[in-house]
Order: sequence, then structure tokens, then C-alpha cells
Amino acid sequence: MAEITLTIDDKEVKGELGDTVLQICQKNGIYVPTLCHLDGLPDIGSCRMCIVDIQGPGRPRVSTACTTPAMDGMVLNTNTASINAMRKNILEFLLSEGNHHCMYCLSSGDCELQDLAYKFNIDYIRTPKSPYEKPVPVDSSHRYLVMDPNRCILCYRCVRVCNDVQGNRVLGIGGRGSKSQIISDLGGSRGKSSCISCGMCVQVCPTGALTDRRSSYMGRETQVNRVKTTCMFCSVGCGEELVTRDNYLIRIEGDWDAEPNYGLMCSVGRYEPLYDEKRTRAVRTMLMKDGQLERIVRDAALNLVADKMDEFPKEATAIIVSTQATNESMDLIAEACKAFGVSNLSCLEGKISEPDSKTNELGELADADMFIVVGEDLTKDHQVVGFLVKRYIVEQTKQLVIVDDDENGLAPFANHVIKPNEVEKVIELAKTAKKPVIIYGAKAGKEMELLRRELAIKAKFYWMPKGVNSRGALAVGINGSFDAISAKFVYILAAEAKDIPDELIEKLKRAEFVVVQTSYIQPWDQVADVIIPSPIWAEKEGSTTNLEGRVLKLAKAVNPPIEVNDELDTLLELMEKLGYSPMNNKMVSNT
Ligand code: FES
Repeated sequence: MAEITLTIDDKEVKGELGDTVLQICQKNGIYVPTLCHLDGLPDIGSCRMCIVDIQGPGRPRVSTACTTPAMDGMVLNTNTASINAMRKNILEFLLSEGNHHCMYCLSSGDCELQDLAYKFNIDYIRTPKSPYEKPVPVDSSHRYLVMDPNRCILCYRCVRVCNDVQGNRVLGIGGRGSKSQIISDLGGSRGKSSCISCGMCVQVCPTGALTDRRSSYMGRETQVNRVKTTCMFCSVGCGEELVTRDNYLIRIEGDWDAEPNYGLMCSVGRYEPLYDEKRTRAVRTMLMKDGQLERIVRDAALNLVADKMDEFPKEATAIIVSTQATNESMDLIAEACKAFGVSNLSCLEGKISEPDSKTNELGELADADMFIVVGEDLTKDHQVVGFLVKRYIVEQTKQLVIVDDDENGLAPFANHVIKPNEVEKVIELAKTAKKPVIIYGAKAGKEMELLRRELAIKAKFYWMPKGVNSRGALAVGINGSFDAISAKFVYILAAEAKDIPDELIEKLKRAEFVVVQTSYIQPWDQVADVIIPSPIWAEKEGSTTNLEGRVLKLAKAVNPPIEVNDELDTLLELMEKLGYSPMNNKMVSNT
């Protein structure tokens, strides 16, 4: 991009052709107040707070910095008395409409409108309230959020994030003039709308119009801690911020700076961990005795596990690892299995079929002109990838082809829905595209062989592994099938894994001794002789590898319950008891 020079507030500053005036101000540390602008959203200039005084070129004018393209040689002022007076008037008008009584608002202290009111010294409103303005009912029909239209300033951030960023197209504007209001679908309650509960609208709302039900009144920004980590509920590996107070996780938000999601999140990562976990947390080490799980001293339990491991021949030992384990734990287990000669090493979520070894970055999806989604419903699994696909097909008239035998949530957006046994049609369609991408999931079958063969050079392939850290597991060779016939002693690193198939539980019942390192008791209480408690994702450190092959950091946001030790530390302790020193990568004699 060509460099351009502007004079802002009598100072010469540089920017790039294509920048807006606001972007150049921000790059050069010049403060311009904003309300409707948010990095990552298309600017629409609705709030008018960012107005600046442009002297030229052309006729002098007052214009919104967020929507005015910067030009070489432009001269402007951002902080004159008249500009600030206009901003103050705009703020007064915004505050005079609706209900902006901060004392009674749960966003008080975390409200961008309130911040600006303080900044512009607004201590009363000169504009009388319109006698025609009636309060609008608060919509509390949604499971996760509350919408109070009386606190809305119509900045349209929620509408833009829903439509332009997430591609969901649920929110819009209804009514005209002073009766304008954010609506869901064609009107009606939010709880009954087509909202998919990604929660992005709440995350971007600058006022108290959209609020999170669970974390309401649980702490203002100055009272909470924020820890950046990685979502561990699918293999996209979204960067997120865990908002905590007093060692209590109150809210999960997308991290705007994190690759690959750049702030996007879905309900699986944002809400389900806080609302939908019904299992009992494993908070102490337990031993099965006469059909009952009883508390046991941790060290005694680890000694027992080590003794049992020694007792059974290696051919009768099986290790099962969940893809919700960290890279570090997987690495250690794989290394120890090699050293001990244990070959029955498998993945709890089932055998991981080897993908195309080449990985592509999700950011490159923007360059594609045709999305071919095979055996994967991106509205249920890997939803953030689905948001990107929806965003690009909405924005840029790209083609979407679904190859699936079952119902697929993306089908209404698709140009073609094709059965897997008619995959030749896809090859024909792909000939019309310059840069097709193939996104394939766990249900993709033999049709992939033909697609790989025919489109290997032209297309980019994206594997959507079912497990969370499948790439991490594959990297260290944890991808075998569980051999239940030979397994007498089984050690399971379950982490938070759920939806364990009954078939596996039945197989495990035939083993003689089962140890489960898990965050939750169920369903392991049916088979475990020893349960070792394990932290949940928000309580552990380490790393995970996402579907792009990107190694992402996990950071501890809250401390686990007192008797729950770190996942890796527990494994290391056990290794020590077995006389194995991973640092030296060799067996150490116990005697
Ligand atoms: Fe520019 Fe709202 S920030 S008009």
C-alpha cells in the first residue's frame, strides 16, 4: 500500500492509502472518541461521535473519521472547541432517548456511553424527554442474554457482528426514526428467534442493552481478572478470554487478537461449559470398594496404581488418552509407552484416521471462491469455521457445495447439495472454480478418495477432526484402536471427555483393573477401580494443537479444587513411582 501524509492537529502523520481517517489517527496515537466503531466490524458512521473538522482538500467539512477515507495531503483537526461541542450535543441526544439512568444499570462502570458522558462532563441533559417516547419491554426470553432496547443507542454493532462477521443474519432494524429498534428475524422475542447463541452481540454491545445473564452483577471490569487461553471443546482451538472473579469463572469471551478466530466464538465454547455440565466433578482421589467409590489418600492410590501396572504384563496393559488432554501429557504418555513396551495405546474418541499431512490456515478461506463441505455439519461441529464460510458466501457471492447424506444445517445457504455417491458432480462444479477448498469431517468417506485424486493440485483441504487435540495425538502416535481382548489393566486419561460410548464402558467392564484420570465422575464410576481427579481446561496449563496444526497455549485462569493436581504433574508423579524418568528418557531402577 502506498504511504500517504496527512496533517492532523497541526502535526504531520503517515498512513497508508486505503486507511480511514480514524485508522490513521489511531495508528498515530491521536484520540478520537467513538461509539459505533469496533475494530473488525465494517464502519457505518451511525453514532457521529468521531466527527473531525476536515479543512481540505476540497471544501472544509465536518465528517465522521470512521467512514472517511484518508487522502494524501489531507488537513484536519480532531480536537477543536466546536467539534467537541458538537460531540457533546450528540451525546446529550443519545442520553435523552431511552433509559440511561446509570445508577440502575448493570453495565454501569463498563459502559462506553457512560465513559464518554464523564469525559464530556455531562452532568444533566438539556434536552427534554419526548412525551411520545414510551418504554419498550425488556426481552428476557433468551437463555443466555437479556435485551433491553431502552438502553440501546442503535450503534448497530450487534447487527453488524451477527450479519457481517458471524454470517448468521438474525438481527436487524425494525421501525423508523425514533421508533427504530433492534429486532430478531422479522420481530418477536429473541428466545424464539433463529439466534444460534454465539453471544457475539453481547460481547460487542457498548452499553447495557445486551447483557450476559450469568455474569450480571458479578463484577465490573475493574473487579475481574482476564486470562487469555484456548477453548478446548473442538479442534478449531479458538482463542478466548476467561473472565474470573475470586477464583470463579463468570464469563467466556472471544479474544479479538487470537488466531485463528479473531474474537469469534460459538455457544459450545462460550456458554455450554458454564451452563450445560451436569456431571459430578471429581474433586478427590477415590477407590472402588464393595461397589462404592471411597476416598483414598492420593499417594496411596498412586502407589496402588504403580503396583498394579508392575503386576500386569505389558501385553495386558492398555492406555487410552482423550483428545482433551494437553500436548505435554500426550507426549509423556507416548514416550513412556515406548519405554515400557506398551503398544495398546489408543484414543478415547476412537481411531483418528490419518489426514492429509499438509495443513492450511483458516485465514486462507477468505481467498477461496468455492467451499465444498463433505461429511460435516458446520452448524453443529466446528461452528466457527461455519461462521467464516457463511460470512464469505454472504459477503462475496462465493459458491457453497454440500456433500452429505444427512440433513445439514448449511444446506439452506448452499448452491448445491449433493449425495456422496454422486461426487463426480462435485468434480464438474470444481472445474468452474479457481480456488476451491474442501472442508471435510468425520463423516466423509470414500468420496474423499476421488476428491483428493482429482482436486489435489487445485484445491486446498481442511480436515475437521472430531477430537479436540487430534493433531497433537497424531503427532505422538496416539491413534490406534483400543484392543479390549488383551487389556487387563487399563489407564485412561479422560480429562473432560464426555459422551463416552456405552460400548466402550461394556468393554472396560471386562478388564481387571481400570484407573481413570478424569475431571468428572460419570460415566467412569461404572468401571473405575481408581479415580484420580484432573483439572478442567480453565484450570490447566500446557498446549494443544488445532486443526490447522497450530500449537496453542493453555493458561490457568482459576485454581482447581484443593485435591485436584495438574494433569501432567499427576502423570509425572506416577512415572516416578514406576521408576521412569522422562527427562532422561530412560528407565531408572526402582531398587
Ligand atoms: Fe464513527 Fe460512530 S465511531 S460514527
